This record gives sequence, structure tokens and C-alpha cells, in this order.
Amino acid sequence: MSPHDDQSTTLFGNGDELPSNHSGNPHINQLINPGLARRQVVAGGAAIGAMAFLGIGLSTRVEADEPLDALQERLKGQPFKRNRLPFAPVAVTRADTITVPAGFKAKPFIPWGTPLTGSYPAFAEDAGNSAQDQAEQLGMHHDGMHFFPIDSQSGKGKRSDHGLLVLNHEYIDAQLLHPNGPTTVAGKRTIADEVRKEINAHGVSVVEIRRDKRGDWAVVPSPRNRRITAATPMTIAGPARGNALMKTRHSKSGTRARGTQNNCSNGHTPWGTYLTCEENWAGYFASQDSEQPREHSRYGIRKTSRYGWETLAGDEFQRFDASRHGTDASEDYRNEPNQFGWIVEIDPFDPQSVPVKRTALGRFAHEGLVFAPVKPGKRLVCYSGDDAQNEYIYKYVSRDKYQRGKAKNYLLDKGTLYVARFDADGTGTWLALDFADPAFQAACAVAGVSFADQGEVLINTRLAADIVGATKMDRPEWGAVNPDTGDVYFTLTNNSSRTTSDAANPRSPNPYGHIIRWREASKDFAGNRFAWDIFLLGGTQDDSRDPRGRTLNDSNIFASPDGLWFDDEGRLWIQTDMSGGQLGSGPFGNNQMLVADPKSGEVKRFLVGPVGCEVTGISQTPDFKTLFVNIQHPDDGSTWPDGPGKRPRSATVIISREDGRRLL
Ligand code: FEO
Ligand code: CA
Ligand code: CA
Ligand code: CA
Repeated sequence: MSPHDDQSTTLFGNGDELPSNHSGNPHINQLINPGLARRQVVAGGAAIGAMAFLGIGLSTRVEADEPLDALQERLKGQPFKRNRLPFAPVAVTRADTITVPAGFKAKPFIPWGTPLTGSYPAFAEDAGNSAQDQAEQLGMHHDGMHFFPIDSQSGKGKRSDHGLLVLNHEYIDAQLLHPNGPTTVAGKRTIADEVRKEINAHGVSVVEIRRDKRGDWAVVPSPRNRRITAATPMTIAGPARGNALMKTRHSKSGTRARGTQNNCSNGHTPWGTYLTCEENWAGYFASQDSEQPREHSRYGIRKTSRYGWETLAGDEFQRFDASRHGTDASEDYRNEPNQFGWIVEIDPFDPQSVPVKRTALGRFAHEGLVFAPVKPGKRLVCYSGDDAQNEYIYKYVSRDKYQRGKAKNYLLDKGTLYVARFDADGTGTWLALDFADPAFQAACAVAGVSFADQGEVLINTRLAADIVGATKMDRPEWGAVNPDTGDVYFTLTNNSSRTTSDAANPRSPNPYGHIIRWREASKDFAGNRFAWDIFLLGGTQDDSRDPRGRTLNDSNIFASPDGLWFDDEGRLWIQTDMSGGQLGSGPFGNNQMLVADPKSGEVKRFLVGPVGCEVTGISQTPDFKTLFVNIQHPDDGSTWPDGPGKRPRSATVIISREDGRRLL
């Protein structure tokens, strides 16, 4: 998330979360043997991409070690069928608008405050809408998003002119949400309706939309339109359901929760449901206890919260106070934070459905969830990053096999969560966080840590990952799976707290970020070994590396990669989330979106967003004539999208070609 300017009590000014990983696990950069690693990583990066282009599978590390010059020589004369990036790259800019290449257009859509349900209350220009209005309007700070064709109720659909656009609202800018900012007296919030409005501006929106013959999109007034907020009733599923650490005054059985918050990136299941991911939720709670239990301290619960919701009287607000007040957990909200940090499944086609927190997927600062190719008769495999400094990348493998036409939601409740260890030789291992696994038990014994059951392991996912020796990463954000090769790509956005440098990634700290990728050793993705390399290093013309081993240039310099997505034809779309000085006065202009072709190694800038914004969230219609992209928190003087004198508003942007053809 970013820019975090309104979250300065809990975050560094540069937008990074404070690190809370104090384990002794090696950082990935300490694992890489200087000298050996640079050639291996550089050559390996080019080789994997090139072999994918040639249709050759990467079977051994030897192939990946082919020197770059020999590889380029061998590839000469291999013609590309057609230009896969047929547009002129846009230049770096600080214009307060959406800039796209010639031949394309970009139109703002469903900004914060758009009427959506109930009485369809109009957006008040002075931000004077009530809490109830906000519950019937689009929330703030659009993030992860997915377009469900209207005929995709039970899986893949084909309709491109009608569907449900489902999107996250990551957090709020309280200054902009109210006419004169939030009211605080002596450090306490005093107006319940204000705080309720903040709660209602969070969560998820389900928006039924339709495209007319001219290609213009509009919201359909529909009973399927829905707002899910930080107060919506939810159930808890998976191994942590009913765990002693999930019990609260509101749910003495530990099976029910209220709301989802700080919903950053997303995922979607093969059975047509939406997955929203709880990222920087810890800052919503405060605890005055002098000693914090491990399930709080390892996630950064502090004495003050970001918005002060817990300072108001009433159960709906007191639940954000995680201090001990009663004699046990059924009398207070000491365990309320344990109900957050999960991935939440939402059925967008059923407005009455109760969202479900899927605890088998682990508890951390979830950025998103991306599935490996799903095949009937095979187990489900998906990946999620923990976006905080020096945290980890996880993989989940379902216990049971995916079958078409059968109830499938349980596949996300019974399975094994693994965490990644990246080794210096370019291979890696998935380490099980499984209470019943002898290796996990042995690691716990060595560390002198015990868990009562698998539910407690998952509530303490970060600690469990520390114990097995996972590799600390540079803030894992989105992942994406190449539809041509099955390679899994992840953005590592930046890391201002890195203190060790090495040959493979000599930046210390790492202000620009990079993209890592791996290929599973097992065809069904479910095994525990993989081969990895670095796809590209973000940065300036002098300090960067593109997929072909060259430095980036004016057409593609960028920093802080965050959003990541493959289109159906295997092009990788990269969205950036710079903040602080890097965004305000760096060489990269406003945040942007690029397209990379792993087949050719080409990278081009496709879009630049307005002033102060982050570019995040992306989805397409099946015909690829419409691309949806989210613009989050335009600020620092921006008046996008409504123009001079108006409040800046997060919004979706609809991108299409002037001539109405496929985008690319
Ligand atoms: Fe909300 Fe990690 O971005
Ligand atoms: Ca964000
Ligand atoms: Ca980010
Ligand atoms: Ca993000």
C-alpha cells in the first residue's frame, strides 16, 4: 500500500511498513555467492525467457547457465511472428492526467462516491455524504480488481459486454473523506457517524456494468450491486475456525467475524468467486497491554491505531481495542486482530452470500493470491506474498483434487501451506508449515517453539515461517503465472531496510525493486522444489537490468513494481507504486504501467497515471477490447479525475483502442 502519508504513526515516511521480522533467517542477498551468482542470474534470466520463446522446457540448471552472448548468437535468425507490443512507449511525465500511447484512450469510471446500491445517493462534492450514503456508494482507494463475465457464475464466462466488476478499497484518506478531515478531541475520535463512514469506505464493491454498442460502459442498477465493508458479517473457515485464539466477545465460538480491511491485491477462483486480501490490517488496532502475545507482536500491533476508531465508545468501535479488559477472551477483543490477515472469499453473484475467511491460506500481510494453471484431477496450487520488509512468499497446495462441477470451496480449507527458501545455486525449496509434518515438528523443537494445533500455526504463520528457515524478501507484492510456460513471477517492490549487498543485487538498500520468477520442478506445481532467477531489475538508465541483460532506457525506466498480471497471450503487465521522494522528485515521473514480453525480453511503458497516484489493479474483458485499471489515491495537488477545484478521487480507468479493436 502507499503512500501511507496519513498513516505516519505506524509507517516510515517513505511508505514502507516498519519491519517486524526479527528472526535470524538469512536474507536472500546473503544466500547468493558473490562472483558465481551474477553470471548465473543474468544468463539464467535471459535463457529461461529465450527457451520459453523457442518452446524448449527448462529441464536442468545447466541450460539456464548458458552464457548470454552464446545464447544471443544461437537465437539470431529466430523470427518473431508479429510485434507483440505494437505501440509507441509513452514518456515519463508529471502531467495530472492518464497518459496512454497514440491510438488508445483512457476514461475514468466509478470513482469513490459513485452511487451503487440502496437509495443510490449522489456524491456530494464537499464530501458531506453520511456514513449510510457511503455504505451505498463506491468505497475509497481502489486496488485489486477482477471482471467476472455475467455468464461466469460457475467458472469461465465469455460475455465481454456485461459483467460484474469487483474491486477492493484498500484504505482511506480521512482528510478527503470528510468535508474538513476527521474530528479529534484530545487524541480521541468523538463523532460516531464519521468513524462509521470511514469503516464503510473500506472493503469491496461488486458493480454490475454493461458496455453499449459504442463501447461505453455504465453501471447497471442491479440487485447484484453490493458493498462489503469493514463491518460486514463474515464467517471463519479452515483450521483456525473455532480456535481459542479466534474467540471474542462478539463470537464466543471463534467462528464469526466483522468486516474485512486494508484489502490490497486480489485473486479469483476457477469456480467464479472473488478473493480479497487483507494487507496492512495491524494498524487498525491498538493495545495498551505491556506485553504483547506473539500473534500480535510479530504483526506489529502497537499502542496507537492509524485512525483511532477504538477511542469511541460502543462495541462496534471497541472491537478495535485489542487490550485485555476482561477475565478471558470472551469478555473483550484481545483476539480481534487474529480475525484479520486472511484471504476472504466472496461470491459476487449472490448478494446474500456471507464472505468467508479462508484460514488455511495463512495469516500475514496478504498482497494477493494467484493460481497455478487449474486442471481437473490435479490439486489446486496458489501463491501469496507477505508485503512487509523482509517477509516471505508462500504457496498453498490443496489436499484434494479439483473436479469440474463439484462443490469446490472446501479446496481452500484443507491443504498445506508452504513458505519459500531461495538457495544460492538458483534452486529453491517449499517448506511445509504443517503441524503434522515431522520436519516442521523438528524445526519447532530446535527453535523451542510450540503450537497447540494447526489453527495456532496458521494464526502465527510468520513465526512458523521463521522457524523453518524461509528466505527474507524485499517486500513481495503481486504474483502472476505465465500462461505459456507456467513460470511464476513476483514483484519485490523495494526494501529500505536491507543492509547487506551482494553481486546479484548490489543495492543496499534496494530503492528500485525487482521481479523474481521461478519454475516448479513438478509438472503439477505441487512439489517442493523449484528453479528461480531474476527477470528484471527496476531502476534508472544507469542502475537496472532488463530481461535481455541490458539496462533500462527512457522508454521503460521504472521503480517500485507492485501490480503484476499476465494477459491471455503471455504479456506481463507491471504497475508501479513509488512513494515519498522517489515519486515526488525522482527521475521516474508519476506512477506508471509497463508491458513486458518474456518471449522477446522487450519492456515498454504503456501508461502514466495522474499526480501522486499509485497504479494498481487490472483486469480485462474476454475479447480484450476493454482493459480495467485502477488509479489509487491521486494526491499532492492532483484534481484528477474531475478537474480544477475538485477533490481528487480514486477511480477505475477504462482503456480501449480508438478504433475499437483488441487492445494488443
Ligand atoms: Fe497494498 Fe503491498 O500494497
Ligand atoms: Ca495501494
Ligand atoms: Ca505497494
Ligand atoms: Ca500493492
